[in-house]
Amino acid sequence: MKTVNTPKKLDSLKPEKVIDLRQAICPHPLNVIRDTLRDLQENDVLLAVSDHEPTALENAPRFCERRGYPFRTVEQEGVWNIFIQKVEERDARLKVENVSKSFHSGDGKVSVLNDINLTIRDGEFVTIVGSSGCGKSTLLNLIAGLEKPTSGQIFANGKRVEGPGSDRVVVFQEGALFPWLTVRENVEFGLKLRKVAPKIRREMAQDYLKLVGLTENFHDASVHQLSGGMKQRVALARALVMEPAILLMDEPFAALDIQTRESLQDELQRIWVESHKTIIFVTHHVEEAVILGDRVLVFAKNPGRIKSEHEIDIERPRQPGHPEVFLYTKWITDEIRENGEAVNDVQEAAG
Ligand SMILES: Nc1ncnc2c1ncn2[C@@H]1O[C@H](COP(=O)(O)OP(=O)(O)OP(=O)(O)O)[C@@H](O)[C@H]1O
Ligand SMILES: [Mg+2]
Repeated sequence: MKTVNTPKKLDSLKPEKVIDLRQAICPHPLNVIRDTLRDLQENDVLLAVSDHEPTALENAPRFCERRGYPFRTVEQEGVWNIFIQKVEERDARLKVENVSKSFHSGDGKVSVLNDINLTIRDGEFVTIVGSSGCGKSTLLNLIAGLEKPTSGQIFANGKRVEGPGSDRVVVFQEGALFPWLTVRENVEFGLKLRKVAPKIRREMAQDYLKLVGLTENFHDASVHQLSGGMKQRVALARALVMEPAILLMDEPFAALDIQTRESLQDELQRIWVESHKTIIFVTHHVEEAVILGDRVLVFAKNPGRIKSEHEIDIERPRQPGHPEVFLYTKWITDEIRENGEAVNDVQEAAG
């Protein structure tokens, strides 16, 4: 077992908190670790006691490495003690701090989001599920700088979000392409506004269209000649060409048929690996959220809030119908059901 940068305090092996994960099956032990760490102070040590699968033993080291938590494991008579130290999330790409949002309606104020706190690390893929109207798009709009929080603040790339910026780009459900421009012109549009030289922007558009898998004979096509899936590929290329650090995706595959959706899920996993983006992806499909996310956030409504978070520790690339994908999808869907949320709104599987 690998040990990373064990700081001094970990060596003294005096945990502030102990959790026993033996026989823990559901909720997933990593979620217990995550939830416990959240309540600890910086540098506090958590001891997770584990035996064998399906406890945290196999997955905790990967979880700790990915999150930057120093850890150490010690075996005593078949029982593993996993010491994890909480450290400040120094390389957070996005921080949402105590954000609430309300809108004025005819008969007063409607609270849409209530006290949202969220830290997303560089290169993390976070998916959000929740029933209609729980504020998912509102949160993306706040991060994109298209709306302002009623209270709280958002930091992206170390700077407070005061408005839209090319470091955060949104891909919408309908792609929102300009119908009077060709595919290539759509992709070049933002670069043109940025006054990038024609030759360079042409090359960049070409590269990103290739990355999203759109063959060259469609680069000069007009938008109405494209299928729904191709339009979403162009929308993705148009977002990626701006080279944003954070990609915000609001149900981008919702209007597509099941085969197209699955092939785009596949492509997006590959693009994410190749482009090292930080992605926040909203969907109604729990299975899609599980296939794509390092972490799935479940939203609840009235007022909109983060109800729970689930670490998805499954090897990539992930496919629909894979037993572990199925299991996580079921856990999360059952939890949404228990919350009394409208399950019709949040679909278990794509299609
Ligand atoms: N500009 C606005 N003015 C007033 N109310 C708004 C505004 N934008 C959103 N809302 C309200 O906020 C609530 C949350 O909307 P939002 O679009 O964020 O939900 P959502 O979770 O994205 O839903 P869906 O899954 O249907 O897309 C809704 O009740 C909506 O009517
Ligand atoms: Mg929405």
